[in-house]
Amino acid sequence: MTKFRVLITRQLPEVAMHAIREFAECDVWSEDRPMPSSVLSEKIAEAEGLLCLLTDRVDAALLSRAPRLRVVSTMAVGFDHVDLAACSELGIPVGNTPGVLTETSADLAFALLMTAARRVVEGAEYVKNGLWQTWSPTLLLGQDIFGATLGIVGFGRIGQAMARRAQGFGMRVLVCHSRSLPDDVLQTHQVERVSLETVVGESDFLSLHVPLTPATHHLINRDALSKMKRTAVLINTARGPVVDTEALCQALLEGKIAGAALDVTDPEPLPATHPLLSLRNCVIVPHVASASIATRHRMALMAVENLHAGLRRRCLPHCVNPDVYQ
Ligand code: GLV
Repeated sequence: MTKFRVLITRQLPEVAMHAIREFAECDVWSEDRPMPSSVLSEKIAEAEGLLCLLTDRVDAALLSRAPRLRVVSTMAVGFDHVDLAACSELGIPVGNTPGVLTETSADLAFALLMTAARRVVEGAEYVKNGLWQTWSPTLLLGQDIFGATLGIVGFGRIGQAMARRAQGFGMRVLVCHSRSLPDDVLQTHQVERVSLETVVGESDFLSLHVPLTPATHHLINRDALSKMKRTAVLINTARGPVVDTEALCQALLEGKIAGAALDVTDPEPLPATHPLLSLRNCVIVPHVASASIATRHRMALMAVENLHAGLRRRCLPHCVNPDVYQ
């Protein structure tokens, strides 16, 4: 039986590669950097399936070069890199990997909160640089997490997982969410639902968990940052452009907020000379919220399941443009 032809834009965990080879001939980009868009648009011409990452832009121009494409499967929960309307228009279902990375991503968001609150990176550098001479009553004083107010913007799966962690630390949790929520969700998580303005103004730690859409682009802008407490810390594990980077840089430099801890940036990655990288009160990690071994394996396998279903013209187990089936 002839196998399907699929384009895979980066080497995946072997367990996933093995599963794909069972039903497809794979063209895999083997370098550990995104496939240049010129190469992607050339290779897509033959592909019946595309397994891509959040670093690949799948837009109408690319799709116009993909006459045989049956499915786009991204190994990510966020799908802002894919033009869903263009895919639906062409009858191409798009799959993502929700659920499996929820707890792992919330772990990193909470780790960033704690790192910023207790100045862990500064402390580690202090020791590595040979500066540790004695115990000091005033060395590297940070902020208490216990009893502080955590603001969660976007109360979906990962936002809720963040709230569960905060309960264990005795935090007060405020949430804001743009859509309706099931009645019991606020009660179960012991959180108060408030407006964006209130969550921004009252939080000691403000953690972002919204998808990137036109409505959330620069949601945290100069105005929002100016309404935060001077002692507050911003945590972004959502998408870089949810925060206005220039405004954040200025707020940190001018002491308008106390700190930031970022897993995502805009641009991403930041150039080595970017001013954010020189700030003592800004901790940045390289978009690794879902990066545990087990979770990345689960994500890769889920992406394979979506790919396989799409190639066989079956409904994807996790489809983000279900209108394609109408
Ligand atoms: C990570 O950012 C993802 O969307 O999976």
